[in-house]
Amino acid sequence: MILFNDLKKKYLYLQKEIDNACKKVLRSGRYILEKETEGFEKKFAQYLGAKYCAGVGNGLEALQIALMALNIKEGDEVITTPYSMAASTLAIKMVGAIPVFVDIDNYFHIDADKIEEKITSRTKAILPVHLFGQMAEMEKIKKIAKRHNLFLVEDAAQAHGARYKDKKAGTFGDIGCFSFYPTKNLGTFGDGGAIVTNNKKLYEKCKMIRNYGQKNRYEHELCGLNSRLDEIHAAILSVDLKYLNKFNLIRKNLAKIYSLKLKNIKEIKLPEIRIHADHIFHAFTIEVERRQDLISFLAKNKIPTFIYYPIPIHKQKCFSGFNHLDFPITEKKSKKVLSLPIHPFLESKDIAYISQKIAKFYEV
Ligand SMILES: Cc1ncc(COP(=O)(O)O)c(C=O)c1O
Repeated sequence: MILFNDLKKKYLYLQKEIDNACKKVLRSGRYILEKETEGFEKKFAQYLGAKYCAGVGNGLEALQIALMALNIKEGDEVITTPYSMAASTLAIKMVGAIPVFVDIDNYFHIDADKIEEKITSRTKAILPVHLFGQMAEMEKIKKIAKRHNLFLVEDAAQAHGARYKDKKAGTFGDIGCFSFYPTKNLGTFGDGGAIVTNNKKLYEKCKMIRNYGQKNRYEHELCGLNSRLDEIHAAILSVDLKYLNKFNLIRKNLAKIYSLKLKNIKEIKLPEIRIHADHIFHAFTIEVERRQDLISFLAKNKIPTFIYYPIPIHKQKCFSGFNHLDFPITEKKSKKVLSLPIHPFLESKDIAYISQKIAKFYEV
C-alpha cells in the first residue's frame, strides 16, 4: 500500500537502535536536559557545520525563541513569505511583531528581488522559509540583510541537510530553526525542534529562554518559555541523524524518477531545482491543471496526495488584517500545487505506478 508517509515502516527499520536508545534513557532516571539532549545538540551542530545547537520543544517555538533572543518585539517588522506552513508567521505574531509579506519566486521561496522594497525603518529581520527541502536564494538574501543591518532567521523545518553551494540550511543567517515533527526529513516520534547559531551569546540566550529564562536554577534573568527537547526525543534523533544522508539520497533518487516519468505531461509543472542547490525533497510538489479531478482519480487508485498549502498565510482567518493583500504568484501556485508521496520507504516501482496513473489521467 502506498502511504503519503510511512512512519511505522521507519520505526520498524530503526527499531533495534531506537528501542535501545529509549530504554537507555528510561533506565537512566534522567529525562530533561541531560546527556542525550546535549549529545544530540553537539552531533546536529557538527552535521550542519554550525558552532552551537539548542534543542527545543518544536519548530514553532524554535522560531519564537530565535526572535525573542534577537529582541524582536511589538511594533518591529519581520519580512517573510506568505507561502509556508503558518508557523513561520505565527512565530512573528507570538513576539508581537508585524509580518511583512513578500511574494514568492518560481521555487516557492520569498522572492529575494522584491525584499528591499518592503524594508522600512521598523524592519528588524528577514525570515525566509526553505520550503519543500530546497533553500531560498540565500546569498542574495544575506547580502540584503547585511546591507540594511537586519537579522536573518532561517526557517529550515523542511530542509535538514539541504545545501546551497557548500553551506547547509540553517547556517547562513544569525539563527537557523528546525522542526523534528515525525514527518520531517529528520523527525522524532513526537514533537521536537532545534535552534542553531554561530553566535555564543545568542546560543546562551536561546538556552535560557527555552528553560523559563533561567540563568541558573530558579534565577530568572529573562521571561522565557518551557520549550525543551526531551531526553527520549534527543536519543531517537541521534539514531535518526545517522540515517539522514541515506534517507535524503533516497528521496532525491525518487524525485529524479518522478521528474523523468512526468516530464512529457504538458499539464504538469515539475519542481525546479535552483542552480547551486542541493534539494532534499521533503516534498515533491508539482503544479497541475484540473487538480481536484486528479486528486479524486488518484484516490480511486489508492494514491494519497496532499495540498501544501491550499490557503496562503495572508488569506488565513487568524491573520485577518492581511486578508486584503495580493500576492499573485503565491495565490496562483496555491491553486495548482499538489504534493505526491515521497519518503525513504517508497520504492521506484511505487513512483512508476503513481506516474503511470497520472499519465493515464492526462491521457498521455
Ligand atoms: C516550514 C515550517 N515551519 C515551521 C514548522 C513548525 O514546526 P512544528 O510543527 O515542529 O512546530 C513547520 C512544521 O510543520 C514547517 O513546515
